[in-house]
Amino acid sequence: MPSLAVMKVLMRELMTSQRVQRTPEPDLVMDDPEKVADYTAAGRENGVMAPVYLFHSAQISRVIRSGDTVLDLACGPANQLVQVARLNPDCQFIGVDLSEEMLDKAEGLIAEQGIRNIELRKGSIDDLSAFANHSMDAVMSTMALHHLPHTGVLQETCKEAARVLKPGGGVYMADFGRLKSAESIDYFAHQYDHRQPALFTLDYFYSLNAAFSLDDLKAAAAVFGGDVRVLSTFLVPFMVVIMSQPRRDLPPAVQTGLQQLKDALPDYHQVDLADMRTFFRLGGVASPMLS
Ligand SMILES: C[S@@+](CC[C@H](N)C(=O)[O-])C[C@H]1O[C@@H](n2cnc3c(N)ncnc32)[C@H](O)[C@@H]1O
Repeated sequence: MPSLAVMKVLMRELMTSQRVQRTPEPDLVMDDPEKVADYTAAGRENGVMAPVYLFHSAQISRVIRSGDTVLDLACGPANQLVQVARLNPDCQFIGVDLSEEMLDKAEGLIAEQGIRNIELRKGSIDDLSAFANHSMDAVMSTMALHHLPHTGVLQETCKEAARVLKPGGGVYMADFGRLKSAESIDYFAHQYDHRQPALFTLDYFYSLNAAFSLDDLKAAAAVFGGDVRVLSTFLVPFMVVIMSQPRRDLPPAVQTGLQQLKDALPDYHQVDLADMRTFFRLGGVASPMLS
């Protein structure tokens, strides 16, 4: 059951006449060492992002198949990518990011964990000319599209992703959606103040203000064709996913891996994960496992 505070946010979003304008991220590419360090820490060792990554890992694992080559758009410090790659050792992953600082962190994590199925490339996700048409079995991206400067680049990014994807390939791209009211943005930005560094809160605040609207994301994702849907959390598109139909049932080894990761989460993250599952399920995104 969502908390009273979250219910208030939902009511406000449904009733408000406000329409907060999008403000692009001040740091489109994340190169500031301190911010990169905070963001990286938030995704590791039960940081505030842990339940979010786990939710996405389960979803991504359903749109990829054994033997696939998977492109991660704006992989950042590879917290998400490493988790998915560990769960799916029979797939090959390529992470692309524009930030040297992020790619350094990603390299460090990959080395630390002895991961062998990830390759990193420096590049911009709206120009995937390094990759041939129909060369990828699947495309993934998490919490990154809001870093793009405007809808034109968002559309170009989806166009490029669709170009490199094989027909019938898997798609899972998740990001924040734009909230209507400034108070709601404030609520979510500060919700976990006690569990995260101040700089991460500020970064999160900027991210929510830079989120594209559900309509912008739907317009950009239309290039993938009818099999790819754009779905969001129930009632309020706080989080949005652009996703293809699942391409398989989760193999037992992946199920076990996900379960172990979930069991290792502290109780407060289990609550966050349950809320995320509920809001997405009601929005039409069923989550395998993780119950
Ligand atoms: C908030 S991080 C998300 C990282 C990762 N996907 C995750 O889920 O943790 C956003 C990332 O997008 C990268 N980025 C921003 N614009 C980009 C672009 N045009 N091309 C490639 N990467 C970009 C930033 O450098 C940063 O690493």
